[in-house]
Amino acid sequence: MAIAQPAILPEAGPFALYVVMKVVGDKRAVLQQCQSLHQSLTVLNEQQADANLRASVSFGKSFWLSLGKGGPAEFDGFRALGEGEVTAPATGGDILLHVNSSRHDLNFYVLRQFLQPIAEAVEVLDETYGYKYLDSRDMTDFIDGTENPKTLESRSDVALIKEGDFAGGSFVMVQRFVHNLPAWHRLSVQAQEKVIGRTKPDSIELDDVPENSHVGRVDIKEEGKGLKIVRHSLPYGSVTGEHGLLFIAYCNTQHNFKAMLESMYGETDGKTDTMLRFTNAVTGAYFFAPAAEMLNSL
Ligand code: HEM
Repeated sequence: MAIAQPAILPEAGPFALYVVMKVVGDKRAVLQQCQSLHQSLTVLNEQQADANLRASVSFGKSFWLSLGKGGPAEFDGFRALGEGEVTAPATGGDILLHVNSSRHDLNFYVLRQFLQPIAEAVEVLDETYGYKYLDSRDMTDFIDGTENPKTLESRSDVALIKEGDFAGGSFVMVQRFVHNLPAWHRLSVQAQEKVIGRTKPDSIELDDVPENSHVGRVDIKEEGKGLKIVRHSLPYGSVTGEHGLLFIAYCNTQHNFKAMLESMYGETDGKTDTMLRFTNAVTGAYFFAPAAEMLNSL
């Protein structure tokens, strides 16, 4: 089996960095930086004990196709969804850098080193630093990740393309959500649990999961089989500024992302995810993370 890029399969460390970039200059120079990233992290990990730096580099559809490798047949651009107050914008991007580690300062350092030689060739569209919050909670104070695949085997099974030219690669979905916590806190705990579909203290699924709750929208079965994704999301932000969840997930098919988004944003059956009354997506994009060998051969 082709080897996946390092950030995808292991459970994330407590800090992460997510950077979406547009390439505006020397494409070859940018690609070379992407290719040398994993080697520079290996060196840093040797110098900094317990850093556990891992990264993955992924590409937006039009940039990927411009590299001349063809594409995984399914690879699609992100389509804006929703209407009125509940929308998911499509904000694009050519390159997504996802770094996770046990040190916030090193994530910052990695991006500085990465950008230095190519500062003129890329425009950074979004740079978000995530951190593990309490016992892996989102800022709504609900545990996030309970149903995420846990073993290496199941994560690999869900995230990685198994065979063909793109084996070991993975589709990526990113959305940055800004929460409205004052509105959220006006709800009673019982009302919040109905919005999420799980209990607040210990993340137990409600006996009667409301259809328009978050879990009710994204826990989708097709032909008796649950659609799965590997989430690497983390909370981000400051108390008095913007804060929320940087949602990111990997999957061996884009279909699962599309089915979940269509269900959340009211396209499947007209019902929308009630959680979206308390949080708003400000970015949205799909990327493809090639296997490590393929990245090196670009
Ligand atoms: C489950 C939070 C966005 C997919 C959950 C859970 C929480 C949560 C608290 C329950 C515990 C768990 O199983 O992890 C959030 C927040 C979001 C967000 C705060 C944005 C602000 C999304 C998006 C998707 C998604 C955009 C996919 C398009 C899932 C899936 C589950 C889940 C697949 C597991 C459902 C199950 O099998 O029970 N999320 N989520 N989430 N979420 Fe989200």
